[in-house]
Amino acid sequence: MIMSSPPLGAPAPAESAAQTPVLAPVLAIESSCDDTACAILAPDGTILAETVLSQSGHIPFGGVVPEIAARAHLAALPGQVRRTLDAAGLPAEALGAVAASTGPGLIGGLIVGAGVGKGLAVALGRPFVAVNHIEAHALTARLPGLVPGGAPFPYLLLLVSGGHCQCIAVEGVGRYRKLGGTIDDAAGEAFDKVAKMLGLGWPGGPAVEALAREGDPAPWPLPRPLHGRPGCDFSFSGLKTAVAQKLAPYDNGALPRPVAAGIAASFQNAVADIVADRVAHALDMMPDATLLVAAGGVAANGALRARLDALARARGLPFAAPPLRLCTDNAVMVGWAAIETMRARHALGLPPVDDLALLPRPRWPLDQMAARFDASAA
Ligand code: KG4
Ligand code: ZN
Repeated sequence: MIMSSPPLGAPAPAESAAQTPVLAPVLAIESSCDDTACAILAPDGTILAETVLSQSGHIPFGGVVPEIAARAHLAALPGQVRRTLDAAGLPAEALGAVAASTGPGLIGGLIVGAGVGKGLAVALGRPFVAVNHIEAHALTARLPGLVPGGAPFPYLLLLVSGGHCQCIAVEGVGRYRKLGGTIDDAAGEAFDKVAKMLGLGWPGGPAVEALAREGDPAPWPLPRPLHGRPGCDFSFSGLKTAVAQKLAPYDNGALPRPVAAGIAASFQNAVADIVADRVAHALDMMPDATLLVAAGGVAANGALRARLDALARARGLPFAAPPLRLCTDNAVMVGWAAIETMRARHALGLPPVDDLALLPRPRWPLDQMAARFDASAA
């Protein structure tokens, strides 16, 4: 279920312009993986323009190639910033701040995004906000209009994408606690690898989901690693190996479609079971959670969404998954995280954020984000 009935970007009821230092639109850049995305948000979160360029150069390689990604970001981004401004009908001078995903992610793309963002910020004399990509996923549910009634802290975030698989207690802006994460593959990575074994294209998640619809999972039982174990860590590599073993007898001939479909359905069920079990444990670890939020590309999976919705309902909690384009990597979430950060610092009486000196970083643990709200360090 996608809880997104009101128009996106409706003004947040509790906040007025007087309470926020964000008085002009924010331009945001996302280039941490294989999507070159740019967005402009009004101070209240209204999306004024949004552009996304999905890179196709990786398709022949069956996965993201960092060097190809960095070059494609470099080729696309300057023009894309211009087009996004044009789409919003704004001159660059109308911007109040510039933000970019500055980590974690692939370092080449991060350098391009942060470099373009910083250059624009310096040229305009506006602040630059370095945004943690995971934090941006975590705060997306709070984009005004997305979750009916808003997404008050604290809530549980399940982030399941090609690169990430973790449960995070979102306790406030800058206040995140990782409850558990994958000890091997990310969920999306498992989908992509199984898709490859089944002879499907990349990215594999949507193709596996489509094939699973016509399959009977019963003849193809698969394991559920870590199911029922304490905590909420994830593991998918044993599941992937088990799929490879089921497929081994077909190595030398064509894979019959009913076999492929049955294995796809069984694999998808196993992932949904594993994730639902891990999230149930995460909710046990976070008894004060008011909401369950799923984000990341794998949260697009219908079977998984249905399981998470049922789980939340059984706990008396609402479940929210942002619409697909805001679930996968996008720049709107980066702009919104920047707005939340600027507001939160302002509310604490801290000086406006200015991250020109902050270097892009491939790893940027979420627990380091609290430092930007530490008054003694300001
Ligand atoms: O969040 P995302 O767009 O990019 C990052 O990895 O950061 O997620 C992409 C991942 C890919 O692994 C893709 O196969 C998976 O999300 N995915 C899905 C579905 N749609 C995308 N996995 C399962 N079912 C889907 N419908
Ligand atoms: Zn992401």
